[in-house]
Amino acid sequence: MPERWGTRIGLIMALAGNAIGLGNFLRFPVQAVKNGGGAFMIPYFISLILLGIPLMWMECSLGRLGGQRGYHTTPGMLDSIWSHKISKYMGVLGIFIPFTILIYYSYITSWTLAFSFFSATGQYFGAQSREAMGAFLAGFQGKQANQYFTNLLSAYAFFIITLGITMFILSRGVARGIEILCSIGIPLLFLVGIVLAIRVLTFGTPDPTHPDWNPGQGLAYVWNPNFKALTSSSIWLAAAGQIFFTLSVGWGIIHTYTSYLQERDDVALTGLATASTNELAEVVLGSTIAIPAAVTFFGLAESQNIANGGAFDLGFQAMPIIFQRIFWGKFFGTLWFFLLFIAGLTSAVALGQSVMAFLQDELNISRTKATWILGIITFTLAQPVILFIDKGFLDEIDFWVGTLALVLFAVLEVIVYVWIFGIDKVRKEIGRGALISIPQIFYYILKYVTPVFLLGILLFWVIQDVPSKVLMVGIEPDARPYLWLARAMILALFLGFVWLVRIAWKKKYAG
Ligand code: PHE
Repeated sequence: MPERWGTRIGLIMALAGNAIGLGNFLRFPVQAVKNGGGAFMIPYFISLILLGIPLMWMECSLGRLGGQRGYHTTPGMLDSIWSHKISKYMGVLGIFIPFTILIYYSYITSWTLAFSFFSATGQYFGAQSREAMGAFLAGFQGKQANQYFTNLLSAYAFFIITLGITMFILSRGVARGIEILCSIGIPLLFLVGIVLAIRVLTFGTPDPTHPDWNPGQGLAYVWNPNFKALTSSSIWLAAAGQIFFTLSVGWGIIHTYTSYLQERDDVALTGLATASTNELAEVVLGSTIAIPAAVTFFGLAESQNIANGGAFDLGFQAMPIIFQRIFWGKFFGTLWFFLLFIAGLTSAVALGQSVMAFLQDELNISRTKATWILGIITFTLAQPVILFIDKGFLDEIDFWVGTLALVLFAVLEVIVYVWIFGIDKVRKEIGRGALISIPQIFYYILKYVTPVFLLGILLFWVIQDVPSKVLMVGIEPDARPYLWLARAMILALFLGFVWLVRIAWKKKYAG
């Protein structure tokens, strides 16, 4: 019996859970503050319209088509629409990316569970400066032994719990696992998010010596458009990168979710609803919690420093300090990290599901067995991520796979699906069973604007960021071997999946 989603609303919740993740509440605020607030939002919305939404429709429809042909992952999907040897290997990216990211995404998600727990017990209460809270986080991550943590025991404990929950849900399958999780999790996430947003908006001006430090100033920073920055290529790259990350497009996982639809189930409204729900969580809740909170308690200039300090400083350093200063701080702290945990968990299962589908479909492994294999391999490969975090191991993977590979895969998909398979067939695919009609202009965008935009991004990256990355400019010599190890691991994983696809196809055509 092939797997299916239980209900329409269940599928929308699952897709929303897939898209809404740590990216919405941690990555987005940091990117927005770092890149000039109102200056970031214009390229962000342009990228949403020209890249995000067209790609979402493309991937939803390709996924459903693939599912009809018996494929739930992209190697088979691309192979079935373009019978060239290379197409299935292009599709390898659509399992390699989610698997590689799962390795560190599940680990970061486990921090949020840990910090939710630490908030409830008040474990970090007393660490009231950025230095102290930074030491708490660094101790937890094993970057240093200090008065808060002397070893990685609690980090491992929460990681095993998080990975265990992820695998348990995957072992129950699409409708009985993921759909149930998201049908409860996503409404809960919005509820918690609204409670936190209201709490932040009613902060007022807690510091009488700084009358201008208040939530309104934080919101104004994000929402006052600034057109001057439109010529900055780095802001464009950051904005487009955020769209890819947050909408989960270019990963191969939207395809897997929609492959469990029936031939005449709508994908047009579904895709739009997914993108809208994600944006609601991102630009409304995501920009109303962390940014105004930081501006209220630290001021704008310091908040920018915090954002520049690192991807996790805002969420794991600044926010806990704020919780120590407000009434009922333990409660709100627990909520904040619990919100992150639900967001992370519903995305981690999405990352895992593509690999599960591949193991089940192409290698004929049973679901239970596949869950064990996936869990054990993920845990094993997470070891260097955990142990070498202070050497930049995680950031290295995040750059090559979590940023660059996404755009590359999107380009390949557009070439194969829109250009080779053909835009007329794509239009038919998106239109079949559609509950809304998509304006014609989107097909022109998808055919011409999206690919040009994507190639432009790739080109800029290759010119601007890739050379200094490759040459490890600014990296301490003693960290370099670890980054080489990260690169070797990325390459080995990619080649490993290529090899598996090769074997799977040989078997298919031999039998
Ligand atoms: N969209 C998720 C986020 O915003 C990231 C993600 C992408 C998760 C793809 C799963 C799959 O955090």
